[in-house]
Amino acid sequence: MKRVYNFSAGPAVLPEEVLKEAADEMLDYNGTGMSVMEMSHRSQSFQEIIDTAEADIRELMNIPDNYKVLFLQGGASQQFAMIPMNLMKNRVADYIITGQWAKKAAAEAEKYGKVNRIASSADKTFSYIPDCSDLPVSEDADYVYICENNTIYGTKYKTLPNTKGKTLIADVSSCFLSEPVDVSKYGVIYGGVQKNIGPAGVVIVIIREDLITEDVLPGTPTMLTYKTQADAKSLYNTPPAYGIYICGKVFKWLKKQGGLAAMKERNEKKAKILYDYLDQSKLFKGTVVKEDRSLMNVPFVTGDEELDAKFVKEAKAAGLENLKGHRTVGGMRASIYNAMPIEGVEALVAFMKKFEEENL
Ligand SMILES: Cc1ncc(COP(=O)(O)O)c(C=O)c1O
Repeated sequence: MKRVYNFSAGPAVLPEEVLKEAADEMLDYNGTGMSVMEMSHRSQSFQEIIDTAEADIRELMNIPDNYKVLFLQGGASQQFAMIPMNLMKNRVADYIITGQWAKKAAAEAEKYGKVNRIASSADKTFSYIPDCSDLPVSEDADYVYICENNTIYGTKYKTLPNTKGKTLIADVSSCFLSEPVDVSKYGVIYGGVQKNIGPAGVVIVIIREDLITEDVLPGTPTMLTYKTQADAKSLYNTPPAYGIYICGKVFKWLKKQGGLAAMKERNEKKAKILYDYLDQSKLFKGTVVKEDRSLMNVPFVTGDEELDAKFVKEAKAAGLENLKGHRTVGGMRASIYNAMPIEGVEALVAFMKKFEEENL
């Protein structure tokens, strides 16, 4: 068996320990004589899996009691619609545009009401996070929306925007569980799990209870109403059961690593190895302003498209996979999520050094 260092932006690397455990339990989960894939979502075994997963993410993120944790389907993109359908009571919302995912979320919300784009970093190809300390937050806005870590461009909010009392909604798909967060600062935190937590097919929504109401926009489907999902404890219909089971294993793994403070320390250490190298390299250049650099997604370029392509090809041959940048920006991108071991980043930097010597 050969495992590569997988720098994919998502679906992405998962802890090997988790994959091995899941493999061991594939045919017989905990004496049930069946796989979790084959199990009724109404069974006691599955109930224990989802209850334990919820308890563990609550502990990891220190989620206050007045927030619900929902395990839903439809990916992060479905939340682009669910959020306005459920929360746009005045049909007005403010969006901060820091990349494609925020742009898409804003465009979707526009189907339901007025969207004010109160800040943007489009002027410099989303290579920074705008100053959000004193934004023109709309008086009648139902919420202020951000994409907290921009997977494609490699930027991350280091301080949350001043929403002037409005509810903050954050897409944390690509920084979920990478560091401690103060959940009480948000109305909704949500993310697709396929980057930092588990297999594609699950989206986790952490939502303050007062935002869960029956007062949703007319025509909102039953399935897409937070209240339906919250009342049924994520079991209104058949949930993505196997995905939730893997998420639960990753939560246990994170607890074993020392929790989110330990992950932050480890992620900072990993990212520093790569950024320090980029900062002194004569061939490669990071594309993001230093203050706003993501710990999870690190884009870089040589400035020469052909050389970029050569790098990606040779890296792959050396067991360093999925380093091609997003199709809209080109260059390279190394996604170094929680489960990427430090050895993976060291191997990448060693390869980059060698490539630099050979190609400069
Ligand atoms: C920050 C962010 N939001 C949303 C999405 C869309 O996620 P999904 O494919 O689960 O809809 C992605 C996917 O890469 C992402 O990186």
